Amino acid sequence: MMVESNPPLLDDYSQILRHSKQDCAVQSKIVINDECINGSSECELPLIDLRGLKSENEQERACCVEEIARASSEWGFFQVVNHGVSLQLLEKMRNEQIKLFNAPFESKASCGLLNNSYRWGNRTATCPRQFSWSEAFHIPLTKISEEECYGQFTSLREVMVEYAGAMQELAKLLAGVLVMNLGHRKELFEEICDESTCFLRLNHYPACPISPELFGLVPHTDSDFLTILHQDEHVSGLQLMKDSKWVSVKPNKDALVVNIGDLFQAWSNDVYKSVEHKVMANSKKERFSVAYFLCPSYDSIIGSCKQPSLYKTFTFREYRNKIQQDVKLIGHKVGLPR
Ligand code: SIN
Ligand code: FE2
Repeated sequence: MMVESNPPLLDDYSQILRHSKQDCAVQSKIVINDECINGSSECELPLIDLRGLKSENEQERACCVEEIARASSEWGFFQVVNHGVSLQLLEKMRNEQIKLFNAPFESKASCGLLNNSYRWGNRTATCPRQFSWSEAFHIPLTKISEEECYGQFTSLREVMVEYAGAMQELAKLLAGVLVMNLGHRKELFEEICDESTCFLRLNHYPACPISPELFGLVPHTDSDFLTILHQDEHVSGLQLMKDSKWVSVKPNKDALVVNIGDLFQAWSNDVYKSVEHKVMANSKKERFSVAYFLCPSYDSIIGSCKQPSLYKTFTFREYRNKIQQDVKLIGHKVGLPR
């Protein structure tokens, strides 16, 4: 099944669902069973106060670095507060996002910026249980300031520009901390990451009448260095794998959620973990989130910072091509090249 730019028809899914549960389990890399769909316990993700990084006290700065590094290796996920992004900006972004998704399908799916970046569900679904019940805009940072991209959604532009700038700054701060923690110069990421590949993803998970049969977003790992997520402050749904169990992340309006992507795992030689996560569909409530993805330029070489290396050296372009190839051939991403 391949759905890119049209909302799914519920009837189609109910039909297919009846027949394809078994196929799906076989096809899917991630074993999708009932526990995967339903079972999870709520967890308190490590919550890190980033004021520690700016403290005049050396001990406090070191403690904060240690907390970030520990969370990145034990959880692959953490939350940050006092992150320097104003709550007003987060709120403005959310309001603009709601306006955008509430617009009629034809206008949101066909205006400039949104033209190539809008999609319903995921391109790779081969059966309903791999299908994500969500709509999203994938917006490369290089497009964000282009006025002609926004069509009728003019007030979105200013907020997006400000939001992307704030995310970029925070992502570089966190990546710098993680790089320095392994004995490297913090500028390393500033040299290899540029606007050409970083992007924002605006997500909307409409209430799903056939939840829990479908996911909001299917289990996956992120293919970037690091992701910063502003999740819905009211509606939960994000779950991550911890000690072989799915755990739910509680919404916290003051916090941003940070997670390590595949490239950081490869670069750190598995010190930092790119952890599987997913979003549960909700039968009653819609949910919104915005994710910022820190990616290197396509020709950046990702090699391990330690020897012996667990992974082959590859460029980001090669990794992206490999993912596309794997998806085409076997329907899912296979993982980092060993
Ligand atoms: C994502 O994994 O990209 C989004 C997660 C979320 O919406 O909570
Ligand atoms: Fe993700």
